[in-house]
Amino acid sequence: APVHLMPLSLCPIAFENSLSSGWLSGKRRSPLQMLYDLDQGPRSALAALAAEHRQRRDLLRRACSRHTRRQRLLGPEDLRHVLVDDAHGLLYCYVPKVACTNWKRVLLALSGRGPADPRAIPAHEAHAPGRLPSLADFGPAEINRRLRAYLAFLFVREPFERLASAYRNKLARPHGAAFQRRFGTRIVRRLRPRPRPEALARGHDVRFAEFLAYLLDPRTRRDEPFNEHWERAHALCHPCRLRYDVVGRFETLADDAAFVLGLAGAPHLRFPAPPPGAPAAARARAERLFRDVSPFYQRRLFDLYRMDFLLFNYSAPAYVRLR
Ligand SMILES: *[C@@H]1O[C@H](CO)[C@@H](O)[C@H](O)[C@H]1NC(C)=O
Repeated sequence: APVHLMPLSLCPIAFENSLSSGWLSGKRRSPLQMLYDLDQGPRSALAALAAEHRQRRDLLRRACSRHTRRQRLLGPEDLRHVLVDDAHGLLYCYVPKVACTNWKRVLLALSGRGPADPRAIPAHEAHAPGRLPSLADFGPAEINRRLRAYLAFLFVREPFERLASAYRNKLARPHGAAFQRRFGTRIVRRLRPRPRPEALARGHDVRFAEFLAYLLDPRTRRDEPFNEHWERAHALCHPCRLRYDVVGRFETLADDAAFVLGLAGAPHLRFPAPPPGAPAAARARAERLFRDVSPFYQRRLFDLYRMDFLLFNYSAPAYVRLR
């Protein structure tokens, strides 16, 4: 059965099992109610932050109505990336390469299903299937109840930087060989004119240009959806179909994560900080990789990722030559 389309602005409804602590006033409020209170409440530093998040939501809604046409109904399987925390009333749609390992760690710590310090949870454990329930595991009525009552959030990142990060972590300098074997060999076989046998067997030396050509090759998405590491955030999280209350950004990760954790009644929980300098280094790497890409390919890639740029208010990076 299809899942209901949620109206994009909706007053939160009360629900019984909210465990949130009294972050604002000692009253027990759900994260969604807390956000709603902030939107109505008096001026404060927190209210200013809430106002900024309201502007992001408004921008997303406007961009959705401007740029999306009639869309198919969603089924539960479309919600595979939306993770559920019933105890706190949270829905988190994870986008790989946007601090999603750390968010999974934090949600495990929050739920009491792991060590209290998120940093103590190994990455493979955070990603283990089933550790955190997904909305797709529920029936339509249960899905709709959670969509109505829970605070839904996602984190996004400048699309080209995310793409550069996916290339580096999965193909150029991976932790394991799985992605090279699965995707690297496929890319070499399909796109390299005279591949060496070793490259065909291992897929270990895919160049950035080859990776981009693979993404732009119409056969790629005809065969199967993009892998989640390079799939567009909007295709993973359906932000024009579901109501997201907080749109966090990788560029302001610490502040946005603290905002969500405050709403969840866990302001003491520290979101793991990236090593100093890591975000700037990632940005510089993306720029180096994309500088060598021809304007023709840059434009086609921008078109491919256009919706993520538009919906999440990213402008084309300065190094992109769109005309
Ligand atoms: C969108 O981006 C522009 C340019 O970076 C910025 O000035 C504006 O405040 C942003 N809007 C929202 C709602 O974040």
